[in-house]
Amino acid sequence: MADQSAPIGIFDSGIGGLTVAAAIHQLLPHENLIYVGDTAHFPYGDKSAGLIEQYGIGIAQYLLERKCKMIVIACNTASAYAFKAVQAVAGKDFPVVNVIDPAAEAIAKQFPQGKIGLIATRGTVSSGIYPRKIKKQAPKAEVTSLATPLLAPMIEEGFFNNKISRTIIHSYLEKKSLQGIEAIILGCTHYPLIRPEIESFYKGSITVFDSAELVAQKVQNELRHSNLLSEGDEAKMEFYVSDYTESFAASAGYFFPEKVELKKLDLW
Ligand code: DGL
Repeated sequence: MADQSAPIGIFDSGIGGLTVAAAIHQLLPHENLIYVGDTAHFPYGDKSAGLIEQYGIGIAQYLLERKCKMIVIACNTASAYAFKAVQAVAGKDFPVVNVIDPAAEAIAKQFPQGKIGLIATRGTVSSGIYPRKIKKQAPKAEVTSLATPLLAPMIEEGFFNNKISRTIIHSYLEKKSLQGIEAIILGCTHYPLIRPEIESFYKGSITVFDSAELVAQKVQNELRHSNLLSEGDEAKMEFYVSDYTESFAASAGYFFPEKVELKKLDLW
């Protein structure tokens, strides 16, 4: 049985999951966190389901060895393809949180008959997981999905809030399939970093959803439910990457200014 001071393990293919880690840290500042960015295998979005599952299992095993009390899959692509495998490795009663369920639930509730757009990696879009989960809860909702494979690598390389990112984002959002939507899901944990640019494209005419805060709330509820909320003082944060990249170091510092000491993890 895990104790309350045990860390929460969080992983993504790169910096995207830091948007989720930051939201968790903001809501639960006493929680110790271990973050793994699998930069050696970035991007997950174009990999096969089998490989993503394998990466997810490897990282989950490491987080379990580190005695984490919960695993948060802070990546939509890995949530789509590796959630079941990670849950199986961790055991059926171990809390594993993915980033898709909280978002799908919130959207189905807020737009039960809405026309909803999804932008995400190729992998997440071709899994069909968002439309499936939303329509299960809101059968009259309509979900149109667009794969936007350039966005995560662009963000990972530090291209956001500039001319290049604006041009790429606009050319995706202008696509026919996304016209007439009432809400858009940022179905990749990298995308909150370009949320201001997406919002400025729509100028407040539609609702923009990202899952970071919803996931943080879910983490809080699950920990409370299992009586695992930390009561410690200062949280300890550890950040690991499977391959060192300058862009990851810069972005980790952007989210957690005083706390980042980046370590290389030899998982593979
Ligand atoms: N941040 C990830 C996601 O939410 C993946 C980006 C990638 O590795 O392609 O899907």
